[in-house]
Amino acid sequence: MRSSRCEAAQERRALARWVRKSNLDPVCVAMTMRCLRVRALSSVAARGLHGHPWREPSVVLGIETSCDDTAAAVVAERGRVLGEALHSQKETHLKTGGIIPPVAQRLHREHLDRVVKEAMDNSGVSLNELTAIATTIKPGLALSLRVGLEYSLKLIEQYEKPFIPIHHMEAHALTIRMLQAVEFPFLVLLISGGHSLLAVVRGVDDFLLLGQTLDEAPGDTLDKVARRLSLKNHPACCTMSGGEAIEYLARTGNRLHVEITQPMSRHLDCDFSFSGLRNQVNQIIIKKEKEEGIQSGQLLSCVNDIAATVQHTVAVHLARRTHRAILFCKKEDLLPQSNPALVVSGGVASNEYIIKVLQIVTDANGISLKCPPPKLCTDNGIMIAWNGIERLRAGIGVLNKPKTIRYEPKAPLGINLSEQVRKAALKVPHLKLNR
Ligand code: KG4
Ligand code: ZN
Repeated sequence: MRSSRCEAAQERRALARWVRKSNLDPVCVAMTMRCLRVRALSSVAARGLHGHPWREPSVVLGIETSCDDTAAAVVAERGRVLGEALHSQKETHLKTGGIIPPVAQRLHREHLDRVVKEAMDNSGVSLNELTAIATTIKPGLALSLRVGLEYSLKLIEQYEKPFIPIHHMEAHALTIRMLQAVEFPFLVLLISGGHSLLAVVRGVDDFLLLGQTLDEAPGDTLDKVARRLSLKNHPACCTMSGGEAIEYLARTGNRLHVEITQPMSRHLDCDFSFSGLRNQVNQIIIKKEKEEGIQSGQLLSCVNDIAATVQHTVAVHLARRTHRAILFCKKEDLLPQSNPALVVSGGVASNEYIIKVLQIVTDANGISLKCPPPKLCTDNGIMIAWNGIERLRAGIGVLNKPKTIRYEPKAPLGINLSEQVRKAALKVPHLKLNR
């Protein structure tokens, strides 16, 4: 199997060289060769599921290093994932109690080359055969972004490939279109460890920002609460991210045992705030620790109840702001009359409880809720490669021989309409958001 793969790869490389020299369209050549039953193509086609890249007009390698996941994937024109690989730094950061940027950078440096090679190997596509390389260059941790960008710039120079710089949040927003037909425009709620935002997506790089977090992101809040509760010492949660741990414990918790007030309930806009909520939780934890005589690192008896309250408060906050965004879109006619959609993505969108609460809002407003599976909600290389495909198709931001590409730790997304949303001061009708 290996040697026939190798042979096939060699033959495909030879074929690629010939196509380049003869200036022919690779797709036409591939089709002709297929008709002639050339062994190189037929043996690769025999790979079944992966299929043959030449049948697809474009194949993109995506590289992601913006935070704490080193990820790469090879995706073909119609959204077929040919190969992927990911190295998560979660375990290291759980031990140190948060992401230390120089440590994240070192780990990206140690793993990126292997991760890219693994994704390429799995795909059966050679670097020469790629149409382009797409890499996250913004926003994110400066030291982490730098590793992916420097590595990619070397690759594009060596293999003479076009480069597609990717905005991490744009990639989260577009992932769903790889899985199902979701036409522009649609409303998106992006919730992760670094972001919380609501936007109308009018095109691949055309976003109207309706609101964003004023302080921290929901994933960050959940991670910090989990850390404060010492959940890494909980036998069932020690390998989970903060958000996953909170979701797991909340399933058996009673949120009515602990009370937190909803953030920003008097602000009639679509912005978010989570730091006040976290302060309230901290106060509750301090009080309970005193009551139970708990030392640092020990678990409170009511961690499940606290988890359930935090998760519910976050879910309702997200749902109310999203409800207002839907009303604003209706008022301004920003979404299509038929099949309007809310897409929810980013790591926190893997939370089933949050999705179910959001579903109550979308059902009440005749909007369909769409969400990628958890694996594609959290950071991955597939979404970056797919964003590359989307940009190739639209002919946007594909750079040949780029000279000065810089990573951008902070990068806004789209045209900011937050002020208009605030001025509209739309009241959200009461909905029972209890599950
Ligand atoms: O999108 P992502 O992988 O990285 C960023 O771009 O930030 O999101 C990671 C965040 C973490 O804060 C993690 O705690 C959160 O997503 N997360 C969850 C769940 N799984 C991951 N939050 C709530 N519920 C989950 N099941
Ligand atoms: Zn992300």
